[in-house]
Amino acid sequence: MKNMETANLIYKFEEFFRCKPIISRAPGRVNLIGEHTDYNDGFVLPATVDKEIVFALQKNNTERVRVWALDMDEIDEFVLSEMKPRKGWINYVIGVFAEMAKRGVKVSGVDIVFTGDVPLGAGMSSSAALESALATGLNFLFQGGLSKLDLALAAQAAEHNYAGVKCGLMDQYASIFGLKDQVIKLDCRSKQHTYYSFDFSEFMLVLCDTQVKHSLASSEYNVRREQCEKGVEIIQKKYSSVKNLRDVTLEMLYELKNEIEPIIFKRCEYVIEENNRVEEACNALINKDFKKFGQYMYQSHEGLQHKYEVSCKELDFLVETARNIPWVLGARMMGGGFGGCTINLISRKRVDDFIDIMTRKYKEKLGLEMKAYKVTIGDGARVENF
Ligand code: GLA
Repeated sequence: MKNMETANLIYKFEEFFRCKPIISRAPGRVNLIGEHTDYNDGFVLPATVDKEIVFALQKNNTERVRVWALDMDEIDEFVLSEMKPRKGWINYVIGVFAEMAKRGVKVSGVDIVFTGDVPLGAGMSSSAALESALATGLNFLFQGGLSKLDLALAAQAAEHNYAGVKCGLMDQYASIFGLKDQVIKLDCRSKQHTYYSFDFSEFMLVLCDTQVKHSLASSEYNVRREQCEKGVEIIQKKYSSVKNLRDVTLEMLYELKNEIEPIIFKRCEYVIEENNRVEEACNALINKDFKKFGQYMYQSHEGLQHKYEVSCKELDFLVETARNIPWVLGARMMGGGFGGCTINLISRKRVDDFIDIMTRKYKEKLGLEMKAYKVTIGDGARVENF
């Protein structure tokens, strides 16, 4: 967010609450490859974008949390003794307070104003950015002493226990550990990461936003998670050391093909293949083989479309259209699916042409407006104290 917008946020806070706030911010994320692998203890390759959610906050010496969501111009509040899930954006705020308290942070009443420029519903994890920014801010304000990993886990728990989506750790982890111009290879089992620098001199990442979000998204997400667990249960009967799909090879899966329902088989096959692809794609990145990296992106999309079945016609159309443009190296749907964005790896010189073609074709074929975002990789969550 621009300095001017942060200055406006501070101004609004001071005018309304009559004291000086601290500022805490956290970005949204993209994911280059490794989709639906995080909750299977696998690998992911996200990076943080230069779009973020920014909080101005300060203690108010009460037991009440008062929140002004600037962009919606809505004010809401709750007391710390009543932190049950509620509808709307306030739910995410309550969730983070509750999860921080559960982890021993002695939170008391706070006044909050927040704003942001992470597009909502585009699969760039605006909710993780909100949770991560708030968790980071509260940890600072109340000297909670939680590590960055604890903050990511608290933010993820807010999503599970309040938003009701049993998400993996990727979004919150990326939002907190993001680093400028670096992609993060996260091992979701050990919860450790390696940074890889992404050389943007010749290529660029561009998001094409379908601007649709099908309502199945969160319910189907939880269904996919259960299907993976079902697969693991069957595989465990033969291989008792298997804890989740991270431990399963394709050979093991094929061996048990007759014992696994076809739909569960497909889901497991996709996850195992995608996990392998993340490893391969990282090698391609190390070797600066962007062409190969792009091929893995296309393969990832095919798997998500046909085996994991979380794509939709708008996403498929954008990937197919990109595939026919010679200077596009790779394209795939990104995030949970059923809408949101595709992520595209493109020759830098032709980015504007790419956006023109995609926008026009999307409108011609589906009658819908497409939005495009050029990705700049920014830093992760942080606090600024004035
Ligand atoms: C959502 C979830 C993540 C991850 C992706 C799919 O963004 O929040 O944890 O599972 O979907 O890769």
